[in-house]
Order: sequence, then C-alpha cells, then structure tokens
Amino acid sequence: MKSAIRQPNFAVCLVSAIAALAGLLFGFDTGIISGALLFIQKTFPLTAGLKEFIVSSVLIGAMMGSLGSGYLTDKYGRRGLMLIIALMFITGTLIAALAINIEMIILGRIFIGIAIGIGSYTAPLYIAEAAPAEWRGGLVSLNQLAITIGIMSSYFINYTFINTEASWRIMFAIGIIPAVLLGTGMIFLPESPRWLVKEGRSEQARKILIKLRDKQNVDHEIHSIENSLQIRHAKLSELLAPWIRNVLFLGIFLSFLQQVTGINAIIYYAPTIFQMAGFHDASSSILATLGIGVVNVLSTVFAIFYLDKLGRRPLLFYGLIGMGLSLFCLSMTFHYAGQVPYLRWFAVASTFIYVICFAFSLGALLWLMVSEIFPLELRGAAMGIAVFSCWFANFLVSSTFLTLVNALGTANTFLVYTIMCIAGLAISYYIVPETKGVTLEKIEENIRRGLPLNQIGAPITDNVPEVEMS
Ligand code: BGC
Repeated sequence: MKSAIRQPNFAVCLVSAIAALAGLLFGFDTGIISGALLFIQKTFPLTAGLKEFIVSSVLIGAMMGSLGSGYLTDKYGRRGLMLIIALMFITGTLIAALAINIEMIILGRIFIGIAIGIGSYTAPLYIAEAAPAEWRGGLVSLNQLAITIGIMSSYFINYTFINTEASWRIMFAIGIIPAVLLGTGMIFLPESPRWLVKEGRSEQARKILIKLRDKQNVDHEIHSIENSLQIRHAKLSELLAPWIRNVLFLGIFLSFLQQVTGINAIIYYAPTIFQMAGFHDASSSILATLGIGVVNVLSTVFAIFYLDKLGRRPLLFYGLIGMGLSLFCLSMTFHYAGQVPYLRWFAVASTFIYVICFAFSLGALLWLMVSEIFPLELRGAAMGIAVFSCWFANFLVSSTFLTLVNALGTANTFLVYTIMCIAGLAISYYIVPETKGVTLEKIEENIRRGLPLNQIGAPITDNVPEVEMS
C-alpha cells in the first residue's frame, strides 16, 4: 500500500528556490566564460596560457571556497553565509565587468569563484536541513537543475550579446541580477533550524519549523535533531580510520570521475571546439553551444525523475557508456576533419549526445551521492573533501584542455577522456553502490558493519560482523 506523502509547503519550496539561486550563479558564472573569452581577446591580447588561466581563475577561487565552507557554515550559520556569498558574487562581478586590464578580470573571477565554492557546499546543505525527509532527494537535485539552467542562461546571453561592442562586459554584468535576487531573498529567509538547535537556540528553531512544516507540533523533529547532535563529533583524523576510508575514497573517486571524463572541456570551451570543428563564425558556434545548454537542462529533469525509479547504478553505467562512445566519435571527427565534408555536424551531434549522457548520469548523481554516503558524524568534513576534490579535478581538466589540444591534437585529447570513461566504468562497476530507496541510516549501518562498498546500499543482512571503529 502506498503511504500518503506529505507535500512540501510553500515556505519550504521558497527556501529551496531562493537557495538554488546559488546553484544558478554557479552555472551562470562558470558557463559565461565560454562566450566571453571570444570577445575578451579582442580587447586584450591573450595567449593560450592566459585563456586557460582566465577560465580556471574561478576554479582556483572555488577550491579555496570549498575548503573553508565547512568551518564557515558552522561559524556564521547557513543563512549568514549565503548572504555573504551574494555580496561576494556582486563584488566579483563588478570587478570583472568593469576591468581595465586582465589582472582585474582574473581578480574578479577568483572572487566569484570563492563564492561559488562556498555556495556549492552551503546551498544543498541549507536546502537539505530545511526540507522534510521525504522530499530531500528531489530538493537537493533541484540545485543541480539550477546549475544547468544557469549554464543555459549564460549561453543564451552569450548568443544575445554577440554583436554588441564590449559584449564580454555585459555578459559578465548580467550575473548581478541573480546575485541581487539571492541576497534580497536571503534577507527574508529563516536560518536553518538544525543550525539553530546546534547553537542552543531551540525555541527559535521550533518557530521556524512550524512555518516550514505547516503544523504546530514539531516536537518530534526538534527531538531527533537534538538526538543527532548528541552523536559524538568525530575528529578529522578519523576520516582515515579503516571503516570510513573506503567511503571517503568512493566520494573522491566519483568527484574525480565527474570531471576527468571531460564535461567542462565541453561546457567551458564549446564555442572554441565548434570553431575548431569548422564553424568559423562566432555566432553559429555559440548557437550550437546554446543547444548544449538546453539538452543539459532537459536531461537533468529526466535524471530527477528516474534516479529514484531506475536506480543510480544503471543510470551511471549507461551514461558512462554513452559518454565514452560519443567522445570516441568526437575524436574520430577531428581525426578525419578536412577529409570529409559535413563532419562538423557529426561533431555537434556527438557533443550533444555526450552532454545528454553526462546530465542523466554523473551530473546529477555526484551531488546526490556525496550527500548520501557519508555517516552523519563525519558528513561535514567528508563532504567538504569530496566537494574540494571535484573543484580540484575540474581545475586540472579545464586548465590543461587547450595545452593538451596543442600538445596531442584535438582528436587525441578527446581520446584521453574516452579512456577515462572506460576506466571509470570498470572501477564503478566494482565499487559504486545502489542507494535507491535506502534510508541514510541503513547506509550508515552497512558501512559500520564493514560491507564492501558496492553493497553499502543493500538491506542489512544477518551474520555480518561489526568492524572495529578505531
Ligand atoms: C558539475 C559541473 C558541470 C555541470 C554541468 C555539475 O554537476 O559539477 O562541473 O559544469 O554539472 O551541468
């Protein structure tokens, strides 16, 4: 029999939608560079190295931000920190949009990057802590949807302002709109009830929860938050204890896999790739890129509906197979470019299929799984390390893409990402668990019982020995 599922009320939806604006800014500010780059080089001469540095300056900031985010969200509260990052987005955007030299662009982008890094940890956390348990999965994935909508909007803006003089300034400046909406929205949103309880402000938390849950009696929820806080807080060094080490490895592995299979070579450099494939005017290559943004959003919507129905593992495997095949086709396109006419359309089709496969698998899955697999007492620190790894791997890939293209050629560069998909598929087969429909507590119990990684989402079986915790 189906149990009645409580609908999230308007207040929770509003909290999630406004917090997801941080995801939208994440997508917008990382996506806008692909078009802006084509125009910045008309204002300031750029070498391949400088181009890569402009693209990766946001990522350097994001690495710095994600490292400090666990500490900062505890100290200033989730809401306080979201307000601070809105201000950082505004400041960084103004510096980059009004830049009179390359250094200012880089400085502004690093500032924006720090805000993105903190937001990529804090926004999902803030949503998860406000959401009722039954809706947490969907609402967390809403953040990934916002990221893809941000990327799509950035492509759309790239295309709209293509013929405007100094268009890169306008492209950057538009990012102020969601940042102001985020800041204004956060002024009116409540602090996370869970953080308030942790700070000993349970009465205030109770009043907020009543609004978020549409009911007067929230004692049970306050109680379980208080109980969960009784759990001893593990020291950072315990992350290397045998019982948790493997799970931490899984989180880092998934973060690296999401990036080293090349997604951001496509997301950040798509117009450049299309130009290399034979679309010589900036306008048609940016239009093709806009198509990428649209299929990325649509495929993420598919993932949100099907991750809980088909399961994580099948989506991951089909996604990786599709990504590998389409990267191989892209590589072949560049290999035979010049010999066969119309191959550039094949490049566009391969790129679209690649993005569709990424979005329904690794795109949504990474952020969902890093919030599922870590035991409560170590969740903050472990999630921080996984989020940092994701930004670090992102930095490695996007700061080496053009260098790789120059050194190995475009065809071989895509072949490298193809090999990463194959290796990733083989390793995932052995270590990625199916966590569909399993409670977080059950996953945690399985980890404590020492089950192999690929079984930590399985229902508990008897006769499995409890492992030594220290
Ligand atoms: C990744 C980003 C990527 C985006 C593309 C996110 O899940 O973390 O690096 O640009 O998906 O949609």
